[in-house]
Amino acid sequence: MAIERTFSIIKPDATRRNLTGQINARLEAAGLRIVGQKRKQLTEAEAKAFYAVHAARPFYNDLVAFMTSGPVVLQVLEGENAVAANREVMGATNPADAADGTIRKDFAESIEANSVHGSDSPENAAIEISYFFAGCEITS
Ligand code: CMP
Repeated sequence: MAIERTFSIIKPDATRRNLTGQINARLEAAGLRIVGQKRKQLTEAEAKAFYAVHAARPFYNDLVAFMTSGPVVLQVLEGENAVAANREVMGATNPADAADGTIRKDFAESIEANSVHGSDSPENAAIEISYFFAGCEITS
């Protein structure tokens, strides 16, 4: 299977509770290597543009407000089948639906404050990685 990259965000509800290390341990235990990482306070413009695909959804304004409510950790993850591997370790978007042992089941507070974001396809991973990372900031 090919080595792939995906994009991940540790969200403000998780950084607020100092869960970055515990989430990173879950990612690494799932076979994902953190090949790029930076902590950042998103601006409103950055959050709006990142989530532009959801602009028509009723939760969009709240989502942007939440994602700018505290620092996030932006990550590039690498590994075999990384997009699917990350989605499996994250669990379902709504923690009420997430499987036991997943990050969202164990850490998420709500469907909005759900601790992590992960790309949903290799194509979107490439777009999301290039939105936040320069090539020289990623080291395999
Ligand atoms: P994420 O994977 O970051 O992508 C979009 C985010 O919107 C999602 O995780 C949730 O945190 C957030 N969200 C808030 N409300 C909803 C909802 N009703 N349905 C789906 N996503 C929601």
